[in-house]
Amino acid sequence: MNLEPEGRLGRPFRFVARTESTQDLLGPDDPEGATVAADEQTAGRGRQGRRWIAPPGKAIQFSVLLRPPPDRRQPELSLVAGVAVADAVEEALGLAAQIKWPNDVLVNRKKVAGILAEARVDAVVLGIGLNVNQRRDELPPDARTPAASLLTTDGLERAREPILGRILARLEHHYDLWREGGLDAIYVDLGSRDFLRGRRVSVDGLSGTAVKIDRLGRLEIDVGGQQRTIESGEVTYER
Ligand code: BTN
Repeated sequence: MNLEPEGRLGRPFRFVARTESTQDLLGPDDPEGATVAADEQTAGRGRQGRRWIAPPGKAIQFSVLLRPPPDRRQPELSLVAGVAVADAVEEALGLAAQIKWPNDVLVNRKKVAGILAEARVDAVVLGIGLNVNQRRDELPPDARTPAASLLTTDGLERAREPILGRILARLEHHYDLWREGGLDAIYVDLGSRDFLRGRRVSVDGLSGTAVKIDRLGRLEIDVGGQQRTIESGEVTYER
């Protein structure tokens, strides 16, 4: 895979055919924007100790090193990335994409992408996996949120490089807005894509109706008329 990055994210760019996880290939000496992508991960990581599994050559799997300002809340980065991935997915598909707090991108209620932000000393390694060319039988069957790829969504096989380039370009755009103005600066793009809003949800034993992702990136839930704010967790929802 070859990449001509549009901006400063994606430089330097490294592609590896096979690795355990691209999350482990960026270190303290790398500059902000350094990116590693892989065709195959043998120990791809998801959130909350889960695995990220994709057959070789079918998905976009990459990590980018960011050095956010110390006064910004790092958990918000997953949402910043979610907006960027949703933009790139919408450009590729011509269909609306939504963000399931805190880190999934959905199309037609199915998960096409996941985001993993791991803190390092003075840096964050942001990992993104996007299902592009997997057939239905190549997607994880038992995922909590049913999985889809761009191929299973509209039947078209796509080159991955241009989509990766667009994700990085949109990430740079939203990341720069966020650096300057926090989540407020991208809140219109985020709030309008909030998948959970208005749904019955459960998080860590708490059940209620999701009100919204708030301006600090937390999930606000109405539990029997009382507003509760969730900082992090795994949400299950009713259809
Ligand atoms: C999730 O859905 O829980 C997050 C999935 C994140 C997967 C990406 S693929 C590139 C990077 N390397 C990893 O091991 N994980 C992330």
